[in-house]
Amino acid sequence: MAKSLIVYFSQGGTTAKVAESIATGLRREGYQVDLHSIKEEQQPDLSRYDLLGIGSPVYFFRPPFIVTDYLNSLPDLGGLPTFSFVLHGTYRFDTGKSIRRVLARKGAQNMGYFHCHGADFWLGYLKEGYLFSPDHPTPAELSLAEDFGSQVAGRVAGKPYSLTEEDRPPTLIYRLERFFMNRWFVKQVYSRMFNVDKKSCNACGLCMKMCPCNNISEDKDGYPVWGRNCILCLTCELKCPKDAITTPVSWPLIRPFMIYNVRHASRDPSLDYVRVNHSKGRTQRI
Ligand SMILES: Cc1cc2nc3c(=O)[nH]c(=O)nc-3n(C[C@H](O)[C@H](O)[C@H](O)COP(=O)(O)O)c2cc1C
Repeated sequence: MAKSLIVYFSQGGTTAKVAESIATGLRREGYQVDLHSIKEEQQPDLSRYDLLGIGSPVYFFRPPFIVTDYLNSLPDLGGLPTFSFVLHGTYRFDTGKSIRRVLARKGAQNMGYFHCHGADFWLGYLKEGYLFSPDHPTPAELSLAEDFGSQVAGRVAGKPYSLTEEDRPPTLIYRLERFFMNRWFVKQVYSRMFNVDKKSCNACGLCMKMCPCNNISEDKDGYPVWGRNCILCLTCELKCPKDAITTPVSWPLIRPFMIYNVRHASRDPSLDYVRVNHSKGRTQRI
């Protein structure tokens, strides 16, 4: 039986959902499918698989560092058939292309690319009172993901296909935002801007548990201390039940960009959103 591995990163659960649906489509065509979260320490041995899928959310108009690092760590794939998929709350731009580019450099064969919306819990937008793409992926999107899985199986078996995967690059302002969220800035600047208010923090440890990069340790009193291995998901601030954490998103320079993005996306008829209030780790619709 042909075996497929799907490796994904999912902090909010939407990429994981799509990975499951694609797996269902592949299984329908007789594949045995293993799913693997990049957050797990042990990475699977790729030599046991006939097909590899990579799933990623879009972070700052590119794949998150944790995904790029995984891709860069792959050995030569020697022609292994691969596919990729991305989830995006607003604009994905050419995120998929950068994933495919690394896979191609590793000697993979491209068997397809899938993308759909996923509920956007980026704290910068929640603070402005907007949750983009709520309730995504929808049942219809998950059904398309399942069909995509079946199509990929067909392509590996030799069915003809044409790849129409032109992803446009970000426009100037979004390119600028992507630039300012690059690895150097995150490591050298933003990583130093995490704070905990010890009067509010009850040292519950949730931030440490939820950090996908094990970047938060505890001091002798159990309060969080941040390292430099951050991907800026801001789950620590997002989930804090005491609103005790402040992160770079509170930096005044960030705010005009958030206002611009929210204004632009909320006027885009191709995107849906709901108004929300985010506080004490909970996002409530208003
Ligand atoms: C830190 C962060 C940055 C994000 N940046 C983007 C972005 O640049 N473009 C976009 O369309 N969505 C962006 N999103 C939204 C996610 O790509 C989207 O919600 C995705 O479904 C999340 O996947 P997950 O639920 O598997 O974690 C961002 C979300 C987070 C948390």
